[in-house]
Amino acid sequence: MRAVAIAIASTLLCAGPATTQGATTATTAASSTSWRSIPTLPSDVNKGRKLLANLEDPNAKDAQRLCPGYTAINIRNCPGGLSARLVLSGANCNVYGTDIDQLDLRVLFGPESRLNVRILPAEIPEEQESWYDTNEDYLTRTVKGVHFNPTNSHFGFQLNSSPFEFSVVRKSTGDILFSTKGNKLVFENQFLEFRTELPEKYNLYGLGEVMHSIRLGNNYNRTLYATDVNDPLDENLYGSHPFYYEHRYATLEDGSKKGYAHGVYLRNLHGQDILLREKSLTWRTIGGMVDLTFYSGPTPTDVIADHVKAVGLPAMQQYWTLGFHQCRWGYYNVSDLEGVVETYRDFNIPLETIWSDIDYMDQYRDWTNDPVTYSLNAFSAFLDKIHENGQHFVPIFDAGIYIPNPNNASDAYSYYDAGIAADAYLKNPNGSLYIGAVWPGFTVFPDWSAPGTQDWWTDSFQKWHKEVEYDGIWLDMNEVSSFCVGSCGSKNITQNPVHPPFSLPGEPGNLILDYPEGFNNTNATEATSATAAIEARNSANAAKAAAVGPMSMAMPFVSQVTPGVDIRAINYPPYVINHVQNGHDLAVHAASPNATHSDGSLEYDMHNLWGHLETKATYKSLLKVFRGKRPFIISRSTAPGTGAWAGHWGGDNASKWFYMALSIPQALSFSMFGIPMFGVDTCGFNGNTDMELCARWMQLSAFFPFYRNHNVLSAIPQEAYRWAAVADASRTAMAIRYMLLPYIYTLFHHAHTAGATVMRALSWEFPDDESLVEIDRQFMLGPAIMVAPVLDQSANYTNATFPGGENEKWYDWYTHEARNGSEGKLVDLKAPLGHIPVFIRGGNVLALQHPAYTTAESRKNPWDVLVALDSEGDASGDLYLDDGESLVQEKTAFITLEATNSLLNISRKGQLTSTEALSSVTILGVSKKPNQIRFGKAKLDNWSWRESSQVLKVRGLEGVTKGGVWSKEWELSW
Ligand code: NOJ
Repeated sequence: MRAVAIAIASTLLCAGPATTQGATTATTAASSTSWRSIPTLPSDVNKGRKLLANLEDPNAKDAQRLCPGYTAINIRNCPGGLSARLVLSGANCNVYGTDIDQLDLRVLFGPESRLNVRILPAEIPEEQESWYDTNEDYLTRTVKGVHFNPTNSHFGFQLNSSPFEFSVVRKSTGDILFSTKGNKLVFENQFLEFRTELPEKYNLYGLGEVMHSIRLGNNYNRTLYATDVNDPLDENLYGSHPFYYEHRYATLEDGSKKGYAHGVYLRNLHGQDILLREKSLTWRTIGGMVDLTFYSGPTPTDVIADHVKAVGLPAMQQYWTLGFHQCRWGYYNVSDLEGVVETYRDFNIPLETIWSDIDYMDQYRDWTNDPVTYSLNAFSAFLDKIHENGQHFVPIFDAGIYIPNPNNASDAYSYYDAGIAADAYLKNPNGSLYIGAVWPGFTVFPDWSAPGTQDWWTDSFQKWHKEVEYDGIWLDMNEVSSFCVGSCGSKNITQNPVHPPFSLPGEPGNLILDYPEGFNNTNATEATSATAAIEARNSANAAKAAAVGPMSMAMPFVSQVTPGVDIRAINYPPYVINHVQNGHDLAVHAASPNATHSDGSLEYDMHNLWGHLETKATYKSLLKVFRGKRPFIISRSTAPGTGAWAGHWGGDNASKWFYMALSIPQALSFSMFGIPMFGVDTCGFNGNTDMELCARWMQLSAFFPFYRNHNVLSAIPQEAYRWAAVADASRTAMAIRYMLLPYIYTLFHHAHTAGATVMRALSWEFPDDESLVEIDRQFMLGPAIMVAPVLDQSANYTNATFPGGENEKWYDWYTHEARNGSEGKLVDLKAPLGHIPVFIRGGNVLALQHPAYTTAESRKNPWDVLVALDSEGDASGDLYLDDGESLVQEKTAFITLEATNSLLNISRKGQLTSTEALSSVTILGVSKKPNQIRFGKAKLDNWSWRESSQVLKVRGLEGVTKGGVWSKEWELSW
């Protein structure tokens, strides 16, 4: 095995993409598994109806013009807020559903930074509850009946009774933050519409999941409906987060600016369109209620922390999860995994975790392993070995559960049977199983409301862990995705297993021939042959498409009902959201809206929560599998609060420079949504990468909280050792990351306990600086580190802004050279391949640990302290220490590091002690040569000071910190 791994590595290391393509052919050829010979679902099974989205329909009915709005009566002050009855002000308009005649308005203040405005039908029959409200167990409520005195609130609430309109005001400035003035409320059983005015050129952020720059456009539509799709720009993706914050800047008397941010969260996870227009925002949903929470800020950091606390503080991660992860679709057998792990080691590139995509499964069935390519013996031996080396393994897990072919006795699948016994699956409205299709063929889907589901889920994960000792779980396809429209398997399961209705990557018609932009400049010969191959593929595919006959299995729904107040058009709701899938049909590529839950609720109302609830159930299961340890989960579909259980990766991006650039705003938006454990498929998922893009991306992602390289089936391999330049770039950036691990871990502690962010936009750290409103090509990692990556092909420099003016200090990570803030201007920075510009903000103290191959080894290494003084000569920082894995800690320590008046003071709280010593202290920004250096009372000799760089370095501190640098309090003076 070892010999093979080294052979692969040495062929590829010195090779450009031409050689790596050769290697791909070899990899692809290795992939012959039995599913290739099974029947294929007809390609049209995923074709739904072609609908015109409301937003593209020039003749769409205008609810604002046609509907009467409401009048508020019986307005009453009640504890903590006020209530009123809203009655329809005229004849029903029934534009996209049936008007609700009488509504309740409930306004609740408290705590002072939060205001909740709810509008819901005055009477809701029990069986319709899920049409309007989401069970608190599924989605946390932001305000829980605290009776707060409204006079202490940061907000004022203004109500106009006829017509009913309301405004939310920031008391301290009188600023109107949200106002429905001049616009009607439309409240129907399948349609809600309300609109707020916004100031001109507003700065608005959030409303995900979307691929977009950080600041959302002022003429822009946003649709939320969880879907399985390849990261198209500006369309709905895998998760739904109806939360935004707006950042305004006031000019003070002295001409300076002061930033004010406030947040708005709509606790409504129905499919929805949000229309951002020049001076307004319109929210339209296809169900639910108005349940708005306002957060007063006044900084973006305050708003985000408040929102994150409201929806659920993020999970604390185990320390090892912050190491580097390698994944790909197409590690065909245990030897492939072994080869990758060993080659990383041979090239001395730290690898913490190896991941398996669906290749490890037996015919893509959950909780199984392929008996030949991933035989239990070989698999277990491999896992034992990596565990001994302090490394980890995370497998993918798919949402659809294979349903065995009833005509084939040898097709038994016990995990499915156990789910049937637990009555754990989604149903059709007639009570039969809802059967869609995913990778293994026809599948069923867990129903998270069914009483038996959790136990079956937990038992299955426990049982499987006894065979395959995984360390975490990667939840995929949980939007929840299905490759056919409707319960397409109901009459077809005797065909199982079936191949998906499309070619997998690498299969004929779907060869991976794409390269990054500009590949033709750097690799002209390969680019020419790739272009020719693309043209040939496209014309072959066009000919095939023309030959496809009529639909054979697609099951578009027929609306059999006349909608009314108690009956809704579920499969084809009257308002068509601008959903990205074919024809905007909600049933395309997903379990369809009429799939029914055991509590009577429908996917129509619950769709955007499927992945969220799967994540919660998996978290509970892993608590039992890894007794006492924090579960590690990465989920594709997320909703407000998913961060309490899992991280998220950016889904199926492509090996393109623009996707690398967009990964920064993507990560920042998940910081806003309370899911700090975020990263993207480094080097790109779809398409082939190339050396330059991969080198830049491996460096950029090293500063993201979740750091994983992942690749699509049959694309050229892209592990960090495949090109010498990528290997070098990765080692350089990883060394910095691993030094910073204690800092990143401390940031996670603050996220977990107080809703702080890990990866940050510059405008969050400098909330009064209006020049930063759009900056998303650089970012901060916590308060101390700024990263300004190269994001363009062939560039050997980048430009970056340095927030602040002459009183702000920024130190280059590598040279320690200081510079001032650039007052909003972009500064050119040299950045040849292999160099990622990183800066330390003056005013911070960092506790750094010497990097090692694994995080466990790093944790045993000596420490360095880096003090970056601000222009006043001060700096501070902190460090959280615990055992790195337990959910409940027996002992922790919290260290405060403060520098002022030429004295560094270390104080501590907590019982945890550790044994590693301190190696050095480096102080940046020391303008005068010190007379002497003392550690406590002891005078030290081993130090140097450079006038040119103003850097003071004190070495050889191991002796004075023997027994553990953080086990006692100490001082160092200069
Ligand atoms: C879709 C996921 O987004 C991707 O990461 C994975 O490789 C494929 N499914 C195959 O499992």
